Amino acid sequence: MMQNKVEKFENERATGYNQYVETWIPNYHYFLERLPKLLSSTSHKDLLVVGCGTGNEIERFIQAPDRWEITGVDPSPDMIQQARDKFQTAGNVKLIEGLISDLPIEKKYGAATLLLVLHFLADNGEKLNLLKEIAVRLEPGAPLVMLDITGGKNQIADNLKILRLLLPDGLEEDQINSRVSRIQNELQHVSEDRLSELFAEAGFEPPLRFFQSAVYMGWMTKRI
Ligand SMILES: C[S@@+](CC[C@H](N)C(=O)[O-])C[C@H]1O[C@@H](n2cnc3c(N)ncnc32)[C@H](O)[C@@H]1O
Repeated sequence: MMQNKVEKFENERATGYNQYVETWIPNYHYFLERLPKLLSSTSHKDLLVVGCGTGNEIERFIQAPDRWEITGVDPSPDMIQQARDKFQTAGNVKLIEGLISDLPIEKKYGAATLLLVLHFLADNGEKLNLLKEIAVRLEPGAPLVMLDITGGKNQIADNLKILRLLLPDGLEEDQINSRVSRIQNELQHVSEDRLSELFAEAGFEPPLRFFQSAVYMGWMTKRI
């Protein structure tokens, strides 16, 4: 398989990360809080968190009533260090600095999350490769929850107008314009149809969109 591309989060981009997502992704916390419930249909509570960053998803699974065994993987040292600091006493959390391709394929997980990662990868084989790397590490029937910026060109443009209205009050206009322009011109979103094709090719069931906050869409699928 080809090597995964990496979008590195370093220095201030890493230290200011939690505040940043909180501001720019309306309802992100609500989405995170529901994750353990959303994945509760899994046959065994062994979770793979792909691109775990500072540990936002992991925190929710630790707080869940059921005990989950959690493996988080992320290639950015400055991000995963924050997760390490938070979870050093948690016996059920394993953190790996690296790519999902560094994990053995013999071990199969019961569920996975992929939040805010796929839109950094190009649709030139990189997205497909990451999804395949996840699929081979999941048991048949294992659920996957994904959150990503999704949409065709016009849909993204329209939803960015809505995003402006959903953002917290008091942000500077320049800041908003630059974030909106980055989403529109630099991040690598694909249409909903293309996303379904990618999931199918990687070995997943057709994904169901169950959550949306302007350009951010939440998807649920299962390993075939
Ligand atoms: C926007 S952050 C999301 C972090 C976390 N999932 C969250 O929701 O708070 C994106 C993360 O993806 C990681 N990343 C970048 N390229 C990746 C790849 N090819 N595979 C896995 N993770 C990757 C980055 O290091 C970064 O920590």
